[in-house]
Amino acid sequence: MNIKQILFLSVCVSIPVTAMAHDILGFPRHKGVEPLKNSTYQQNCAECHFAYQPGLLPARSWAKLMQRSELANHFGENAEVPEADRLTIEAFLTQNGADTTWHYKRSIKINQSIPDDVTPMRITQVPYFKKKHGEIPRKMIEENARVRSLSYCNKCHTEAHEGVFDNGTVDIPNFRNWDDLID
Ligand code: HEC
Ligand code: HEC
Repeated sequence: MNIKQILFLSVCVSIPVTAMAHDILGFPRHKGVEPLKNSTYQQNCAECHFAYQPGLLPARSWAKLMQRSELANHFGENAEVPEADRLTIEAFLTQNGADTTWHYKRSIKINQSIPDDVTPMRITQVPYFKKKHGEIPRKMIEENARVRSLSYCNKCHTEAHEGVFDNGTVDIPNFRNWDDLID
């Protein structure tokens, strides 16, 4: 075997081994949250805000949000859905909650920041989320007609639909240079 063949072989072996080690040891392999789709969820839960990925809250939060009584009074709105759809959505969200993944860094951080005995009903109440958004001034959120509330993730995070929330993909409407204004 010449050196090229040896190098080629070692690359072939090391890629799957690294991937396997990540699986076994549980290192996060992806930076964002898992960009899952479910048509029943999209149809029922993406009318008033974007369809939050299940990896943004732990399963116990989704289970509570999806209770019939909670949906009837959902942040001041009626978000009730037919019972069959409710069960489908609840299963989808709880099976993919932030506490069910080892591979998505944001979900792990979200989950680790929440005490075990707390069931947040909002992503915006999660300690990790609050830490990341605490320094954004009101003029960029509540007083910004094109945002209005931190709940509208996709107004500022241009790749929110793909589960990507990196600083580098943030574009706050009306505040192009938000980076200078915050620091
Ligand atoms: C009729 C409109 C409407 C529908 C339909 C709706 N929501 Fe909401 N949702 C709201 C409003 C209003 C808020 C609060 C937004 C705010 O505070 O600015 C909200 C907030 C949320 C939040 C918390 C966001 C935060 O602030 O962190 C979650 C999670 C959520 N909705 C999930 C769902 C799910 C799951 C469904 C489908 C079963 C759904 N929503 C359907 C109106 C709706
Ligand atoms: C007003 C615009 C705005 C809205 C709305 C918003 N964000 Fe952010 N978000 C930011 C900014 C600005 C940062 C970067 C803060 C900094 O400099 O550290 C950020 C940072 C983040 C980070 C950390 C990124 C990193 O690289 O560390 C995550 C995760 C995140 N946001 C998720 C969300 C989610 C989920 C929602 C909706 C529930 C949301 N954001 C709503 C502006 C927004």
